[in-house]
Amino acid sequence: MKTQIFKILLVNNLFYKSVKFKFTLYLLPLFLNFIYQLLELKSNIQKEKSIKSTIFTVLLLLFCSITIGQGLRLSHHDFSRASWSGNEYCKPCHTPHNANLEVPDSPLWNHQVTSSVFEMYTSPTLDGVLGQPLGKSKLCLSCHDGTVAVDNHSGFTNGTAFVGFGNISTNLRNDHPISVIYDSALADVDGYLHDPSSTSSGLGNTIEVDLLENDRLECTSCHDVHISRNTQGCVGCHQIQAGGGMVTKSLSLWKSNDGSALCLTCHKK
Ligand code: HEC
Ligand code: HEC
Ligand code: HEC
Ligand code: HEC
Ligand code: HEC
Repeated sequence: MKTQIFKILLVNNLFYKSVKFKFTLYLLPLFLNFIYQLLELKSNIQKEKSIKSTIFTVLLLLFCSITIGQGLRLSHHDFSRASWSGNEYCKPCHTPHNANLEVPDSPLWNHQVTSSVFEMYTSPTLDGVLGQPLGKSKLCLSCHDGTVAVDNHSGFTNGTAFVGFGNISTNLRNDHPISVIYDSALADVDGYLHDPSSTSSGLGNTIEVDLLENDRLECTSCHDVHISRNTQGCVGCHQIQAGGGMVTKSLSLWKSNDGSALCLTCHKK
């Protein structure tokens, strides 16, 4: 666990910049609050034997006492504290000029694109036809298949920081199908799917408009890469329990999946 934590800290280099730049006198009240929480935590540690959750909790308290995040800030997509990002938020993924056009319709892309060949999901009941990952999914997989370094951006290709827990590998047979056309015709054939062109996504428009890319379901149909739902940084997703334990609920989804709400947006089961 320790090495994993340090891996995260190294990838994002969070600890370093937070302390160096944000820890000014004006944050003193927050710091005192942190000390208070730490003392509280100490008494919990004596009760709680899990070192894993303790180290985790200490780290989270430290971060959230120092600064409050919003959206990307203090998420796992916040690379601004890493030296290789030029301390910028957007640069590892976007550039205003000389963008990478390998993936059609990509938003001014600045990260090296994966060239892996993927194994795709199959099942006897699958009605859609799955080719290789396309569009936005390919952009995600350019870090999340574990073959391209996270710091390979702006033309740099010798990076050394790779995804850790978020490595979903090039084997997508055990992952929800992606890059599949999801239209009224598929919904007709399947019978267990809502019609995307007429069903509300619950986010303001239809499934087709809010969640699909050129009628295709992609990683971005479920995930918001800019994590706009999060207004609290680390503790938005890692919720510290009264007893000192912790639960993780990712706000990187477009909507909460409580009661499988996300799944039931498209599925009629
Ligand atoms: C980890 C990579 C990553 C980072 C960091 C990132 N983006 Fe994005 N961005 C993406 C991906 C992938 C898409 C396409 C997915 C989508 O449209 O939902 C995208 C889409 C966009 C779009 C076009 C679609 C839209 O949502 O309007 C804009 C504009 C954008 N990003 C701006 C930014 C800005 C500004 C920053 C920095 C504050 C930023 N992004 C940081 C990956 C990233
Ligand atoms: C520039 C590299 C990069 C790109 C591009 C990228 N990610 Fe990530 N993502 C990371 C890293 C690094 C982590 C931290 C976890 C780790 O180290 O394994 C992460 C974590 C996550 C997490 C887990 C934490 C959370 O917020 O729930 C999700 C989900 C995620 N990414 C989804 C996506 C999706 C979807 C896309 C494409 C729209 C994407 N990522 C694009 C690098 C990237
Ligand atoms: C059908 C919806 C759906 C699609 C499509 C989808 N995901 Fe996810 N993903 C989820 C849900 C739900 C979770 C669990 C979130 C949580 O823990 O709260 C998740 C979790 C993750 C995590 C965190 C992994 C961890 O260890 O907890 C990563 C990284 C991730 N997804 C990346 C991706 C990438 C990359 C793609 C595209 C190749 C993708 N997802 C496509 C729904 C989806
Ligand atoms: C948008 C949601 C989100 C935010 C914000 C977030 N995390 Fe996470 N984090 C996750 C998810 C999802 C996982 C994977 C949990 C799992 O698989 O059990 C995770 C895992 C971790 C892990 C364990 C990594 C491992 O290798 O097992 C650490 C440490 C961590 N987060 C620290 C942080 C810190 C520090 C912050 C604030 C800078 C933060 N997280 C912000 C969603 C988030
Ligand atoms: C944006 C719409 C959407 C969301 C959200 C979504 N799915 Fe799907 N799901 C689909 C589509 C489209 C297919 C492909 C169906 C087909 O081709 O037969 C699919 C396929 C599947 C399959 C495989 C079906 C088979 O016949 O092999 C399962 C299982 C599944 N989804 C479960 C889930 C779960 C669990 C969630 C929530 C975490 C979820 N889905 C969220 C649209 C969605």
